[in-house]
Amino acid sequence: MEFQNSYEDDVYAAAYARMEFPGTYYLAYRDLPDIFSRHANGHCAIDVGCGTGRSTRFLQKHGFTAVGVDIAEEMIHKAREIDPSGDYRHLADGKLAPFADNTFDLALAAFTFDNIPTDAKKIELLRDLRRAIADRGRIVLLVSSPEIYRNEWASFTTKGFPENFRAESGDSVKIIVTALEDKRPVVDVVWSDEAYRKTFARSSLEVIDVVRPLGRKDEPFEWICETTIPPWTVYVLKMS
Ligand SMILES: C[S@@+](CC[C@H](N)C(=O)[O-])C[C@H]1O[C@@H](n2cnc3c(N)ncnc32)[C@H](O)[C@@H]1O
Repeated sequence: MEFQNSYEDDVYAAAYARMEFPGTYYLAYRDLPDIFSRHANGHCAIDVGCGTGRSTRFLQKHGFTAVGVDIAEEMIHKAREIDPSGDYRHLADGKLAPFADNTFDLALAAFTFDNIPTDAKKIELLRDLRRAIADRGRIVLLVSSPEIYRNEWASFTTKGFPENFRAESGDSVKIIVTALEDKRPVVDVVWSDEAYRKTFARSSLEVIDVVRPLGRKDEPFEWICETTIPPWTVYVLKMS
């Protein structure tokens, strides 16, 4: 069955646009500034799957000149509404053809790969990113850990979807963002660490760092599983 991108939807885009960094999302972004300062070799960035621009504005806030791109026109409309002076581009086919080789120092994809259904499509985008970054460029992939779909979190619930427990790498899974007004489930594709590493190798990319942030007890959130199970994985990649 054809994978339907949950973000190509006006109502969902409007709800997503109102969300900043609640709870579990705070944890996803918390360690990125440190990761950028340890690995980025320059300040020109592309944010692939920018959605309503939250991650693009995050890059800008941390010193990057950033362009945000997304396949969902609804999300790009909202990004432009929130940040009229920002650079947001709708790429209907998801291809980075408008960007020349060696353009960017950093590529960020925050949650984007959760919504790219097949190995072939993941490899296609990673190879395109590899082409668009400079020789010393880095790709930072923030993805959902498989565990996110089988536990409860400050900002997500999955208990309504026991079928997630039977899902293998590559299968569709459902999750509800409780921090959003729109409580319809999002359909993601679960991808194991082992599968990601094979996908990276097939894209001629090398993993140079992996961060799995855990919540801390002194943070102002009511963590549920976040202090013991990492909901997110951040991969830092370079050309091999
Ligand atoms: C969960 S949203 C994340 C948005 C943003 N990065 C953030 O952190 O708020 C994932 C986004 O990835 C986009 N997306 C999925 N596949 C994509 C592709 N092949 N190329 C570009 N964007 C894609 C979706 O349309 C969606 O807007």
